[in-house]
Amino acid sequence: MLALLRMKRQLSLLSLLLLLLLLAVIPAVVRSLSPSLNDDVLGLIVLKADIQDPKGKLVSWNEDDDSPCNWVGVKCNPRSNRVSELNLDGFSLSGHIGRGLLQLQSLRKLSLAKNNLTGTITPNIARLDSLRVLDLSENGLSGAIPEDFFRQCGSLRVISLAKNKLSGKIPDSLSSCSTLASINFSSNKFSGSLPSGIWSLNGLRSLDLSDNSLEGEIPKGIEGSNNLRAINLGKNQFSGKVPDGIGSCLLLRFIDLSENSFSGTLPETLQKLSLCNYLNLHMNSFTGEVPDWIGEMKSLETLDFSSNSFSGQLPSSIGNLQSLKVLNFAANGFTGTLPESMVNCKNLVVLDLSHNSLKGDLPAWIFKSGLQEVSLSEKKLSGSMNSPLASSVGSSLEILDLSHNAFSGEIASSVGALRSLQFLSLSKNFLVGPIPVSIGELKALNNLDLSENQLNGSIPLEIGGVVSLNELRLEKNFLWGQVPTSIEHCSSLTTLIVSQNRLSGYIPIAVAKLTNLQNVDLSFNNLSGSLPKQLANLPHLLTFNISHNNLQGELPAGGFFNTISPFSVTGNPSLCGSAVNKSCPAVLPKPIVLNPNSSSDSTSSSLPPNIVHKRIILSISALIAIGAAAVIVVGVIAITVLNLHVRSSAARSAAVLTLSAGDEFSHSPTTDANSGKLVMFSGDPDFSTGAHALLNKDCELGRGGFGAVYRTVLRDGHPVAIKKLTVSSLVKSQEDFEREVKKLGKVRHPNLVALEGYYWTPSLQLLICEFVSGGSLHKHIHEGLGGNFLSWNERFNIILGTAKSLAHLHQLNIIHYNIKSSNVLIDSTGEPKVGDFGLARLLPMLDRYVLSSKIQSALGYMAPEFACRTVKITEKCDVYGFGVLVLEVVTGKRPVEYMEDDVVVLCDMVRGALEEGRVEECVDGRLQGNFPAEEAIPVMKLGLICTSQVPSNRPDMGEVVNILELIRCPSEGQEELE
Ligand SMILES: *[C@@H]1O[C@H](CO)[C@@H](O)[C@H](O)[C@H]1NC(C)=O
Ligand SMILES: *[C@@H]1O[C@H](CO)[C@@H](O)[C@H](O)[C@H]1NC(C)=O
Ligand SMILES: *[C@@H]1O[C@H](CO)[C@@H](O)[C@H](O)[C@H]1NC(C)=O
Repeated sequence: MLALLRMKRQLSLLSLLLLLLLLAVIPAVVRSLSPSLNDDVLGLIVLKADIQDPKGKLVSWNEDDDSPCNWVGVKCNPRSNRVSELNLDGFSLSGHIGRGLLQLQSLRKLSLAKNNLTGTITPNIARLDSLRVLDLSENGLSGAIPEDFFRQCGSLRVISLAKNKLSGKIPDSLSSCSTLASINFSSNKFSGSLPSGIWSLNGLRSLDLSDNSLEGEIPKGIEGSNNLRAINLGKNQFSGKVPDGIGSCLLLRFIDLSENSFSGTLPETLQKLSLCNYLNLHMNSFTGEVPDWIGEMKSLETLDFSSNSFSGQLPSSIGNLQSLKVLNFAANGFTGTLPESMVNCKNLVVLDLSHNSLKGDLPAWIFKSGLQEVSLSEKKLSGSMNSPLASSVGSSLEILDLSHNAFSGEIASSVGALRSLQFLSLSKNFLVGPIPVSIGELKALNNLDLSENQLNGSIPLEIGGVVSLNELRLEKNFLWGQVPTSIEHCSSLTTLIVSQNRLSGYIPIAVAKLTNLQNVDLSFNNLSGSLPKQLANLPHLLTFNISHNNLQGELPAGGFFNTISPFSVTGNPSLCGSAVNKSCPAVLPKPIVLNPNSSSDSTSSSLPPNIVHKRIILSISALIAIGAAAVIVVGVIAITVLNLHVRSSAARSAAVLTLSAGDEFSHSPTTDANSGKLVMFSGDPDFSTGAHALLNKDCELGRGGFGAVYRTVLRDGHPVAIKKLTVSSLVKSQEDFEREVKKLGKVRHPNLVALEGYYWTPSLQLLICEFVSGGSLHKHIHEGLGGNFLSWNERFNIILGTAKSLAHLHQLNIIHYNIKSSNVLIDSTGEPKVGDFGLARLLPMLDRYVLSSKIQSALGYMAPEFACRTVKITEKCDVYGFGVLVLEVVTGKRPVEYMEDDVVVLCDMVRGALEEGRVEECVDGRLQGNFPAEEAIPVMKLGLICTSQVPSNRPDMGEVVNILELIRCPSEGQEELE
């Protein structure tokens, strides 16, 4: 049915097209053949057929209608019922303008502006006899206007082709279209010179040719177009003098000749243009003085002579321009003083006289008038600003730029009365004394620049009152004292430059609260103390220069500071951290420095020396609630035998239920989103009972450095551990987070802690993990359980199980990144279960610096390649961590032990002992000799091989599993490691 209908339509459209073809050839014949057919319906349907209408704006255009007069965008003449106006502005139409339009014989106005029409401007629409207004502006039309486009232009009065991609010359035929009143060809690519006869268009009122590539001189005879009201030739390459005839166009109100290469002096005839309110000659090469007669152009509201070569004194007749709102004479060669008469320009809003050679005092009238913007920079104004400023009460000044002058004296406290100020620059003067506390009154100020003066005193506390401040520049003064903590109230601050002063004291933590900061320069001061760690959390930092101070201690780790340039931190003798290439002195917890010479591993020499110099242990900052906290907590809980749900793969379809944070998570202090998403991989939709307990203080098991870990029991009695990821801004987007978590959720192995589900809100993420009751390997080894330590067999079993779990992960291309004894949990049967694998994938970027500082923070487990940019991080980093763990399990010693004044690195110690033939002495004394040396020694050797400095020298985990199994059967495989 529908198909039939569509076919009928297509057929009728086809027949229409055929008819149209006939119409074009023998119109009379066709008309007589089908007298009922309306030319306008035909024309519009054909027009519609030529264009694309993605938004369906033209659906009402139906070829079966008898009349188009009710169609969208169509207006008819009520008497003739013929289409008189077509108004399709902003309909998102694309495609070509077709011939159909030529059928619209009564069309007076055609407006297709603001669409995406392309192609050239054919057919020749201008020939439509009745057309008066043609607006094709803001489309993608290209190519040249056909030379004879305007030859028979009927009664065309208004044409706009602005904002297209039209090129080539403006056709000479334009001059013959004598009815034209308005021409707008702006913002195209027209080139060549103006048609010489253009001024014969004596009905022309508005000519806008701006923003093209037109060149040459303005043709003679402009006085012929004496109806001209507006002329805009701006942004072209016109040259030569402005013709005298312009003064005969007495109706001219708007003249824009800016951004061309016009030269010479101003034509005297301009003074006759008493109606002119806009005269813009910006960026040309005009010379000479501004004539006295400028005062005759009494209607002027905007006068812009900026960036020319005008010279001489400013005429005092400027004071006669009572309507003047904008006066811009910047960047010329004006000399002398500001005429006092300008006090009469009562309507002046913007005054820019910057970059001239004016001199003298700052006139008081600039504060009295209604001025909003004053730029008097780069002049030779001198003297004190005080008495003028004193009269500033009630001023509406928004922009005041007095930079680069020779002002001296102190900044008067009356500056605080400039309540509307948004921009204040007094930089590069000779100002002395303190920054007035009244600066705090400037609530609207965005930009404060007092740099390069001789200001002394401290930065006033009141700076915190400038709450809108974006940029604060105080560099190159003699300011002392501290950076006031009140700066934290300037929460919009993006730029803070106070370099080259005498500031001292600490950098306040308040700076770290300014989360919009991008550029900070505190260099060349006497700042001391250590840098607040929180600075690492500033998300938008681009530069942070603290060079040449007396700062000390550790550079913040993470964020911008991982990649800070050494130039930004140099000149602080007591600063330490990798960016200054200096290790930090030992404080508890002791950072470790590995001396390359003390290492007996010959392969270490193939690594750049700075790797080993580098601080291996980086500070643990609260990032995400990873295993450590969980493990501590889990170890504390009473052992309960888990009756873990059978997670058959059939039931693994994830159950998703959306909880309202309002009722289910009312105990959460951080939940601000309205609802969260809870996903259990096991398909258990019944979590909501347990969810009640989530984040309930009573169920909180403890808080580690990373955040809180909770235990809760599902309705079926199945306990789970909940890890709350704390710094959510460091977690990926929800989509990425979910993808990664689901991937990790699919990983199942008897020696891996299962990830059972997760909970997501933008501000809170929880991981729901299998609950393992027996405590961590770390605890078992170093503290024992009820005074009992692991037997050799148990140890071997743990090493083998851990190796198997890692081999499984690596098969799935998952790197653990964080293998350490506190991440290996022991279940009630003594089997190891490795947790927290792959969590680094939840971070926004898998950056080695983030990894090394945040994830691999565990003492001594970190593979050396984390410190080396040129070595790729692979699963071999897990092999290293595993090797350390093996040595730890066998020796019962921590990977790194602090002695009185020494640091013992476990693998170095075992390696040394092996070389001295007394490796057996390294085995944990708590075994009291109850171990088979033929197993323990090869296992230790395996551990040492796994901790090779060069990743490729380490075996794969698969090989490790094989080797361990061979060690268990010494008769078959012992020679492997001898
Ligand atoms: C023109 O098309 C582009 C993409 O093809 C679209 O983004 C834009 O909105 C369109 N413009 C108009 C005015 O419809
Ligand atoms: C010319 O057209 C452009 C784009 O539509 C418009 O912005 C401009 O104001 C027009 N010029 C005049 C003088 O109307
Ligand atoms: C601060 O500058 C003012 C003005 O030059 C001067 O009088 C004063 O002694 C200076 N104060 C100090 C402590 O240098």
